[in-house]
Amino acid sequence: MVSRIIPVEPFDLVVFGGTGDLARSKILPALFRRSVAGQVPEGGRIIGVARQDMGVEAYHALIAQSLRELLPDLAQVPGALDRFLKQLDYVALDATQPEGWEQLASMLGQGVRAFYFSVGPGLFGALAERLRQHGLVSDDTRIVVEKPFGHDLASARALNATLAAQFHERQIYRIDHYLGKETVQNLMAVRFGNMLFEPLWNSQYVDHIQITVAEAVGVGGRADYYDRAGAMRDMMQNHLMQLLCLIAMEPPAKFDPDAVRDEKLKVIRALDAVKPHHIVRGQYAVPVGGVGQGYRDEVGDPRSITESYIALRAHISNWRWAGTPFYLRTGKRLVARSSVINVMFKDAPHSIFGEEAGRHANVLSIRLQPNEGITLKVTIKEPGPGGMRLVDVPLDMSFAKALGPENQSPPDAYERLIMDVIRGNQTLFMRGDEVEAAWAWTDPIIAGWQARGDVPKPYDCGSTGPGDAELLMRRDGRRWQGINP
Ligand code: NDP
Ligand code: BG6
Repeated sequence: MVSRIIPVEPFDLVVFGGTGDLARSKILPALFRRSVAGQVPEGGRIIGVARQDMGVEAYHALIAQSLRELLPDLAQVPGALDRFLKQLDYVALDATQPEGWEQLASMLGQGVRAFYFSVGPGLFGALAERLRQHGLVSDDTRIVVEKPFGHDLASARALNATLAAQFHERQIYRIDHYLGKETVQNLMAVRFGNMLFEPLWNSQYVDHIQITVAEAVGVGGRADYYDRAGAMRDMMQNHLMQLLCLIAMEPPAKFDPDAVRDEKLKVIRALDAVKPHHIVRGQYAVPVGGVGQGYRDEVGDPRSITESYIALRAHISNWRWAGTPFYLRTGKRLVARSSVINVMFKDAPHSIFGEEAGRHANVLSIRLQPNEGITLKVTIKEPGPGGMRLVDVPLDMSFAKALGPENQSPPDAYERLIMDVIRGNQTLFMRGDEVEAAWAWTDPIIAGWQARGDVPKPYDCGSTGPGDAELLMRRDGRRWQGINP
């Protein structure tokens, strides 16, 4: 099954921070892949902007090098790189200074304009103001704002207000790249495209839901940022919160931006405050006798009490979910990279096979990455004579296998999201009120740790996280599903 290419109109995309890590590792590779797929129209222009004074040839060399490293096969397609570089320009400009904007303005056409803020969050406000001040904003202008969107509720509100002073909400695209992941969108397709699941999707039939986003990597080159953020701000407040919303929300009347975002917002607003004993914070450390660097070594602060792992139990107080706990966990340097949502159904109310048949409950596992797919654990009779013994077997569907070899590597989230910006479709972007509601839920949790001087529990690099996270489940008579690559 070959994915369809839906053409977009010619556009100008200006990437502020065009020489930075995100631009080189995600944004420009995504655009290159779209270009090779034939989705970047001929009149389209991509303009990298940063302070560094360099000519367009030097910029081309920088970007070509990243593309050759990251996408070696595509970079070798005859003519592909040249075609892409022809559409790529560079302007040296300091976002906080008045110079350089006229040159940038002179390069822009009359159609869709998108300004991607891939710079530190401290520059978002300055950029919004300068774009307006220098007359670069037309009715067809969009801005794309990277994370982190604020550090807490107050700063998110202030940023929303700063952006709202220059742009309409319909022009603001707040990125959460998890929403652009093919399998995350599949959550909606699975839930609302099938009759099978939705009637069972509630507290009457679901015992609990587990959402795991495990990473094998550590904080890497972003230690400064991460040590100020921690797993709660970096992952829980946005990516896991969005997954929770998509799993728990009511069916929107239509797949349109406000219908979807209204339903997600209702979920966030229905979340109860999390009780301190329902949260476990962890920080990775080198196991005794092991080698390598622990979290504190990587961030260069032997006393850091920032968490690199978090597990919590959340409750949604509404008719559908009252009484069904949602267990969320995420962490770095865990045993494997694995993002999975497990919907754990209740046991059958009565077993006709007697006690010896044991307890068997269905589990629907939605694997977001890697090996995207769905597994439904069903109970069947163990083959062979000797009475009625039951066994659980997986009904396994790998999307790559089911959809054919062309879908072995689904498009990167940024490809989808950037094309949606050009199309003017905000469905997969966060609205201002959603981000604020997520911070309103997160802030008291963080304030509680600060007030108590909470210190995260150490866990071994390469493990499944701190033992207390297992206890969190065991106290409730439940267990985490495994973290498998
Ligand atoms: P980098 O530090 O690697 O890059 C920053 C970019 O901004 C550089 O191109 C820099 O170039 C430019 N820049 C800095 N100051 C100015 C200025 N005053 N005017 C114009 N350009 C400026 O950061 P990242 O690429 O890692 O991150 C960018 C944004 O994306 C941040 O908000 C980050 O939180 C977010 N993000 C990053 C992720 C990642 O994996 N890297 C993941 C998710 C979000 P120069 O110094 O020449 O001006
Ligand atoms: C980013 C976080 O938003 O998501 C990183 O800032 C994290 O800390 C990354 O590593 C994970 O994204 P993915 O797509 O690799 O799961």
